[in-house]
Amino acid sequence: QEKKSVEETSKKKQLDSFTKDNNGQKMTTNQGLKVSDDENSLKAGERGPSLLEDFYLREKIMHFDHERIPERVVHARGYGVHGYFQVYESLAEFTKAKFLQDPSVKTPVFVRFSTVAGSRGSGDTVRDVRGFATKFYTEEGNYDLVGNNIPVFFIQDAIKFPDLVHSFKPEPNNEIPQAQTAHDTFWDFVANNPESAHMVMWAMSDRAIPRSYRMMEGFGVHTFRFVNQEGKSRFVKFHWKPKLGVRSLVWDEAQKIAGKDPDFHRRDLYEAIEMGQAVEFELGVQMIEEEDEFRFDFDILDPTKLWPEEVIPVKIIGKMTLNRNPDNYFAETEQVAFHPGNVVPGIDFSNDPLLQGRLFSYTDTQLTRLGGPNFHEIPINRPVCPFHNHQNDGYHRMTINKGPVSYHKNSLQNNTPATSTEEEGGYVHYQEKVEGRKVRTRSDSFNDYFSQAKMFWNSMTDVEKEHILSAFCFEVGKVKNKGIRKQVVDLFSHVDYELAKEIASNVGVDGSISNHESTVTLNSPALSQETKSKS
Ligand code: HEM
Repeated sequence: QEKKSVEETSKKKQLDSFTKDNNGQKMTTNQGLKVSDDENSLKAGERGPSLLEDFYLREKIMHFDHERIPERVVHARGYGVHGYFQVYESLAEFTKAKFLQDPSVKTPVFVRFSTVAGSRGSGDTVRDVRGFATKFYTEEGNYDLVGNNIPVFFIQDAIKFPDLVHSFKPEPNNEIPQAQTAHDTFWDFVANNPESAHMVMWAMSDRAIPRSYRMMEGFGVHTFRFVNQEGKSRFVKFHWKPKLGVRSLVWDEAQKIAGKDPDFHRRDLYEAIEMGQAVEFELGVQMIEEEDEFRFDFDILDPTKLWPEEVIPVKIIGKMTLNRNPDNYFAETEQVAFHPGNVVPGIDFSNDPLLQGRLFSYTDTQLTRLGGPNFHEIPINRPVCPFHNHQNDGYHRMTINKGPVSYHKNSLQNNTPATSTEEEGGYVHYQEKVEGRKVRTRSDSFNDYFSQAKMFWNSMTDVEKEHILSAFCFEVGKVKNKGIRKQVVDLFSHVDYELAKEIASNVGVDGSISNHESTVTLNSPALSQETKSKS
């Protein structure tokens, strides 16, 4: 019992050691000098000009001037909460990750839910993908599961991410619109990138207007690896399942709430936790044996594909309970830095080309967003286990390293940090065999853009289909360029001809709509001749 409570509160204790309660204290400058007047600047005469010599005025205004940091380039608007995770039974058969071995261990977590497109001050209930990022503070170091509430993604290769984001962010000339997919550039991107069709079907569905952060699923999206103590690896996909079930708003509600209470989702989560309501998600995994990598009619490395749950069932492995609001939004929620590359022994990457690019992007962006290379020292980002290495200096360095030596292998100082063997817990990458020519191309196995989009559409109830159709009509109806509207209709006629015809008649696309449903030959101008002949 003692072990449990120590682990559950270890992150809280660590954070508490940094918190500051000013109550009952005398006001001072940041140098500790007691302040005698906080309402009047120093002047030459009662009605005279202010003096440059007023160090207190300068300090106070200078600090205020720099209170803002850059918002995240995507997922700028979000809300974070603390909690803990417990595995239901040991997963030793599949992974050696320590936090997945012992059901009595409560691993502290910090979760940040977010929208993707809007700026920090945008509304909560817009039609958008939601981020679902979890930092597990394990005894072997931080493990981040940086997921979304939709199981697939718009693109197959990270090199397209800047283009995708430029297309859905406000248009550069007028910064319109904020936080919506209803504009020309987004749909132009979709029309010219047919790999986005599956994700767009999800984005037009009720999944993109959740009722609450407490009522949505989360997905790691990419294929990862589990590796067990014997070195055996399996492919794995991660799922969060909300105990409250999946619930959505309807579009009319979402729009009204966006006007009346733009903070709807953060307020809902904050209040639920303040009222002591359980906010719980179960963690599930789908696993594919290494030898079954090529057994499916989709490529398991393609992030625009999900693994059908009827074929590869989700095994529920544990539960996350969110139960504590942060003390300070900026210090915790704004400064938290997630990174899909933060892994622990027993969890490894796959060659998904979208994941591979993400492994570069997060720490790179955080260098700017959080002001230099020492953001791991910010309290919310610190692991609960000790960390030691020879990295030093840089902006905002907090640690005061002792001794003359700051390099590995030396004869001058005893006991400088040494590496660990795999048996001692050192992280060793899974020795996947790789070979091939250096090429800038995509595997043919990534070429089927429509089967799963069609499967998604066919799995919907009539009401859900009606909502998807209305969403398409609303969003595509806002596109000013008629050519783009036509291209979008053409693209979705590959998914469902009736759906495409309905969209066309609602958004003013005249003339005949080709039925591409029965064939897989694409008309999209974005596809090269080579791809066309393959499909
Ligand atoms: C945030 C890049 C794809 C989930 C971010 C941020 C960047 C980024 C730069 C801001 C991070 C920060 O400032 O701290 C990329 C790139 C991608 C990609 C380059 C593709 C190549 C994805 C995918 C998912 C995802 C596929 C979901 C599986 C998230 C989440 C956040 C985020 C949840 C917000 C984290 C937070 O709450 O702080 N991404 N992303 N991203 N990304 Fe991605």
